[in-house]
Amino acid sequence: MGRGNNRRRSEPLSWGVLRDGKAIWSINAVPGHSVYGESLRRIQGMECRRWDPTRSKLGAGILRTRNDASLLLPEEGTTVLYLGAGHGTSISHLHDHLCGEGNELKGRLVAVDLAPRCLRELTHMAKSRPGLVPVLGDARQHAAWGVLLPTKVNWLFQDVAQAGQVDIFIGACKRFLALGGTGLLSLKAASERWTGEGEATLFHKVEQQLLNSGFEVEERIELTGYEDNHVLFHVTRQE
Ligand SMILES: C[S@@+](CC[C@H](N)C(=O)[O-])C[C@H]1O[C@@H](n2cnc3c(N)ncnc32)[C@H](O)[C@@H]1O
Repeated sequence: MGRGNNRRRSEPLSWGVLRDGKAIWSINAVPGHSVYGESLRRIQGMECRRWDPTRSKLGAGILRTRNDASLLLPEEGTTVLYLGAGHGTSISHLHDHLCGEGNELKGRLVAVDLAPRCLRELTHMAKSRPGLVPVLGDARQHAAWGVLLPTKVNWLFQDVAQAGQVDIFIGACKRFLALGGTGLLSLKAASERWTGEGEATLFHKVEQQLLNSGFEVEERIELTGYEDNHVLFHVTRQE
């Protein structure tokens, strides 16, 4: 996206994503089409979709991070892995950024979910979004779909909201994330094994587990307000 002077408050976060105050927008890779009822608006001659942070933990993380928000996005035109794709809300914006219209950027977004209903919706979405690769699979069963990722990726996102989500994330990163690569773990407190401790203690323990497993914890992003009882861990793989 051009970085012209006449965009008064808009701040480009990437080629296809910009922040405008408390709103985030992605350039629509399927012009004229709204994915989940989000509003469309022309910004500098390009049609953009409003990225709703209450429907997307990645979007919430972008608005909440105290660091450079562009660090939460993968490099355009690369291959990335997304575990727990759901109905494709975040996936659609990520696709706008990673692939662009007709996949002009030649990105590849491998999106795994174990719910057949989600896969039906993602498969439908993939028809108009080349570069999106929906996979019906379990994030824990690498052997079933790992063949789609012959080389390691530099960006991995997980939002499975199920018990053992930290172990699942660590296992997936060890298998698929390159050294120095960015990992993002959306952690839902209520999904973890609950031992009666407060949320703050739980999140602290998870942070220690990530550190002990060879990750640098760049930031723990509180999503409360957009997604209560959730944090987004931003890590880089060190070993
Ligand atoms: C909170 S939703 C994901 C929402 C999505 N990330 C978004 O922002 O639009 C969690 C998803 O994880 C999926 N899921 C749960 N356990 C999983 C597993 N072991 N492997 C793959 N997907 C899983 C569920 O089917 C569900 O669609």
